[in-house]
Amino acid sequence: MTAVNTPKHIAIIMDGNGRWAKQHKLPRIEGHRRGAEAVKRTLKAAQENGVKNLTLFAFSVENWNRPKLEVLALMDLLERFLSEQMSELIKRKIRLRVVGRYRELPERIQTLLHKAEEATQDYDEYTLGLALNYGSRTEVVDAVKAVAQAAIEGSFDPNDLDYDGFSQYLYTRDMPDPDLVIRTSGECRLSNFLLLQSAYSEIYLSKVLWPDFCENEFKAAIAEYASRERRYGKTTEQIKV
Ligand code: IPE
Ligand code: IPE
Ligand code: MG
Repeated sequence: MTAVNTPKHIAIIMDGNGRWAKQHKLPRIEGHRRGAEAVKRTLKAAQENGVKNLTLFAFSVENWNRPKLEVLALMDLLERFLSEQMSELIKRKIRLRVVGRYRELPERIQTLLHKAEEATQDYDEYTLGLALNYGSRTEVVDAVKAVAQAAIEGSFDPNDLDYDGFSQYLYTRDMPDPDLVIRTSGECRLSNFLLLQSAYSEIYLSKVLWPDFCENEFKAAIAEYASRERRYGKTTEQIKV
């Protein structure tokens, strides 16, 4: 059941795996493994709470700068996650969309992503966006290049371009903008995540480290969202009419 004020799209900056591992005196990769379990819980919670679109920030363009072993371990974890979750996505009729610069990911991961996207492309109720090799600035540059190319080819007049038109060149082209952006682990920054799409998003900063994220915290974020007033530049009085 979807309540009236339920966000149509929640985007999450899943942060705190490393700190979780440190607190438990475990290697960072164990934090990432537990983070993958939190992803499964959150996917279920989103569907059970009627959130139709969920985008998870799983790997940023900046994350390539981490130690090589951590990057390799993250890619292995991603590969395992995708192989295991493919049947789950199909069973639960969730469409997978990759949000990010796909072609720079390891080939075996591209193959899995492509298969999962194809197998789930016709599901139209729930969408999982996986932000992989994602960065807003890279996304904008890619979009501008594509727009420029289309203009050169004469397929449209640049004077006719507005934001709606431009947004069709973003990786998120067929998803609504996030109503709510959640960041875990107490950090208060956006880290190059969906900067254009979250222009009017509500933001919820959770102190919980990502591996400990659970349905209760998800519900707390939704409840907080429901209590906010989204004014889009107008006054409270105008909204209440
Ligand atoms: C988020 O957890 C996972 C990724 C960025 C891949 P971190 O690994 O950033 O955890 P902290 O910030 O070091 O605690
Ligand atoms: C942002 O987390 C990227 C993901 C959640 C995948 P980071 O932990 O990499 O962000 P910064 O670098 O601390 O801002
Ligand atoms: Mg972090």
